[in-house]
Amino acid sequence: MSNKLFLLPGDGIGPEIMDEVKKIIEWMNANLDAISFEIDEGKVGGSAYDAHGAAISEEDMEKAMTADAVLFGAVGGPKWADVPYEVRPEAGLLRLRKDLGLFANLRPALCYPALADASSLKKELVEGLDILIVRELTGGVYFGEPKEITDLPDGQKRAVDTQLYTTSEIERITRVAFDLAKTRSNRVSSAEKHNVMKSGVLWKEVVTRIGAEEYKNTPLEHVLADNCAMQLVRNPKQYDVIVCDNLFGDILSDVAAMLTGSLGMLPSASLGAPDAASGKRKALYEPVHGSAPDIAGTGAANPIAMVASFGMALRYSFGLIKEAEMVDAAISNVLDKGLRTRDIATEGANVVTTSEMGDAIIAELKALA
Ligand code: NAD
Ligand code: IPM
Ligand code: MN
Repeated sequence: MSNKLFLLPGDGIGPEIMDEVKKIIEWMNANLDAISFEIDEGKVGGSAYDAHGAAISEEDMEKAMTADAVLFGAVGGPKWADVPYEVRPEAGLLRLRKDLGLFANLRPALCYPALADASSLKKELVEGLDILIVRELTGGVYFGEPKEITDLPDGQKRAVDTQLYTTSEIERITRVAFDLAKTRSNRVSSAEKHNVMKSGVLWKEVVTRIGAEEYKNTPLEHVLADNCAMQLVRNPKQYDVIVCDNLFGDILSDVAAMLTGSLGMLPSASLGAPDAASGKRKALYEPVHGSAPDIAGTGAANPIAMVASFGMALRYSFGLIKEAEMVDAAISNVLDKGLRTRDIATEGANVVTTSEMGDAIIAELKALA
């Protein structure tokens, strides 16, 4: 097995949650026959800026390019609020996504049975929830040109971002969504705003055509993105797979996160196209949440989104399905036993720190091995 993992912990709680994954990898290397990961670590975001004056160094970009999978923590924070836009912490993540061609971002939102009470929504609305947001990740308003602020003659400024999609960009993310739907409840909802955006018109047209030509047996519905946000809060279980552009996917996945109890619960996988010769995909795995500056350094960060992102790496980059299922089961078991980081704690809960949660997950892995 090719087995190179490149770790980019980043800023804020990023290194704190990555430490827990490192412990799990070490335990797996020592105890599971199928696993022998080779680990390297680099810097991204504000920590890379502090070290090299860039949000990621060329050397670390090269390592990310040649690794079998990248594990990414989180970037950003108030310390870097005033650094130049081009080298702000988030630019490191965006460059990784673009240069590695990671166009497909899978953001599953699962409500673990033990956490049905932790959501801000009523228990019956979220119990058993299992939806997947498939977010286009290398196009749209994040990367469209022009993207600039210019000076106007009257002293005002003018800011432009460009929402841009081509047919093939929409086709490939649509296929990812339909292929995944077939492995789940076989329904696709496509969210856009064709009522105001030309890119929405093309999006709807392409998704409709691919659905009709290639996935006749998978029901497809179209939903305006604003309505989709509302429906996610009103009745989230109506959805199976939601496919959408880069910006809508960013926003809808934060909404979906709260259905599961906390942003600290949501993992993600960002995948490139399979290589023509080897079939391997470039891939980066990261929690949906950010660097949580408000709780960094307090031991309150929930490591589950990061650990579950590693679980997705086992599944999607290494085909280690049994081991991926072990990670998911270990998470479920610690929650069943009542352990909670502060973000998912309800009254009377057994509140644990980031590293106690990591240790408890390892104890469950031992019991499952
Ligand atoms: P955030 O996701 O960092 O935090 C939002 C809220 O959720 C905070 O109250 C935080 O404490 C809480 N939270 C997030 N993750 C948690 C966890 N694992 N456990 C417990 N609570 C958790 O979003 P923000 O505050 O808007 O952004 C902070 C910084 O992070 C910004 O610089 C932003 O650009 C960056 N960011 C980075 C990523 C990333 O690296 N992928 C994602 C989102 C935001
Ligand atoms: C996410 C984050 C990023 C995004 C930022 C940090 C660039 O919010 O991964 O959800 O907007 O894509
Ligand atoms: Mn986001």
